[in-house]
Amino acid sequence: MDKFLIDGPCRVKGKVLISGSKNASLPILAATLLFDQPVIIKNLPRVRDINTMFNLIKSLGSKVILSKDKKTAKIINSKNMKTFASYSLVKTMRGSILVLGPLVAKYFKSKTSLPGGCLIGARPVNYHLEALKKLGMNYEIKDGYIIAKSKGRLDGKIIKFPKISVGATENSIIAGCIAKGTTILKNCAIEPEIKDLSNFLNSAGAKIKWSGRTCTIKGVNSLNQTEYSVMPDRIEAGTFCVAATLARGNLEIQNLNPKIIKTELNLLKKVGAKIRIEKNKIFIKGPDKIKSIKNINTKAFPGIPTDLQAQLMVLMCKAVGKSSITESIFENRFMHVAELQRLGAKIKIKNNRATIEGNTKFIGAELMSSDLRASVALVLAAIVSHGKSYINRIYHLDRGYEMIENKLKKIGVKIKRLK
Ligand code: UD1
Repeated sequence: MDKFLIDGPCRVKGKVLISGSKNASLPILAATLLFDQPVIIKNLPRVRDINTMFNLIKSLGSKVILSKDKKTAKIINSKNMKTFASYSLVKTMRGSILVLGPLVAKYFKSKTSLPGGCLIGARPVNYHLEALKKLGMNYEIKDGYIIAKSKGRLDGKIIKFPKISVGATENSIIAGCIAKGTTILKNCAIEPEIKDLSNFLNSAGAKIKWSGRTCTIKGVNSLNQTEYSVMPDRIEAGTFCVAATLARGNLEIQNLNPKIIKTELNLLKKVGAKIRIEKNKIFIKGPDKIKSIKNINTKAFPGIPTDLQAQLMVLMCKAVGKSSITESIFENRFMHVAELQRLGAKIKIKNNRATIEGNTKFIGAELMSSDLRASVALVLAAIVSHGKSYINRIYHLDRGYEMIENKLKKIGVKIKRLK
């Protein structure tokens, strides 16, 4: 298993080009199952989760033709698509559940594995199932599979989600696109990745409109051929902005509309970062002394993303004074804490709240990645630690960060991948 060796402390300086968004690419690729015509998707990140989604749609009968740089995919669905999403593919990535909506909407049936739990919590799919049921999907759960059917095309309905869910909103939008009549989704997640999915579908003739957290979808009979470029990854951009703030860095983050990470940039300004924005660029300089923030609270967009929580915790470890972070989205997303403690962090956890002592001098250690964002937080911590850190199980990082060690090397981090 690959691991990273990071020799810290390092200051970060230079330019970072942000890759395509993983979390926007996944629902877009799942939505290609709705098409009879070829679809071209550009700016895909070359990360493992995207390969998993390719394997999943290929197993369902789609042909995926990749460009040389593997960032553009032409997807052509076969005449005889399958509707079985196997456990062996779904278990490796929760986002796989996003094939359920399109399969039932288009082929009126599906046997899709339940994704199962993961380290950051139980992560059920009840909101996905309840919404699709309202649209006319009947289902039973048997042997770990969702066995779903509909009597022909799904029917547009009014659905109010009991709680904001990114995935359930996406699955319902995709299904509603080719349902009969109008689907109105209320209390939707409004993450930029969901707007990207809507823009993609609209580029193919779907009729999706937004007003606040309400999404209105007028069903169409079928979608047209289209070519679409995925939005940049705001979590990757946020991670590099935290890196600059943490490591007295000076970075130019390229290829991202700064407006979509406004909340994150405001928080970094509060802790002392100097930030200047241009149309598709962020110039960010880290302070000599990082100020602490009393209570950081993760929330659905436009709040502070849970996917940046672990990275912000590293930042607060290095801040002057005490701070706290409340994780409001996932029940068990503090797996990184024990590893940060190995570097010298003083963090206490009570329920979903972490209290962080601050003023920590990190000393390099051997560390273990637990999930995607936790592992990148360990990388950030190793960058500002004194001495060598080894980060094990970096396959978690490869799931969602494109060529992270190359990007880090370019900005001055002493990082090596050990095979
Ligand atoms: C997506 C993102 C993930 C991000 C998360 C929250 C992708 C591929 N993943 O995950 O990176 O951290 O949004 O921004 O885009 N819930 C239920 N029942 C459901 C669905 C969700 O109880 O049917 C709960 C979850 O356990 C969680 C909360 O609702 O506590 C929000 O989850 P959700 O927004 O659905 O996250 P994902 O779509 O899984």
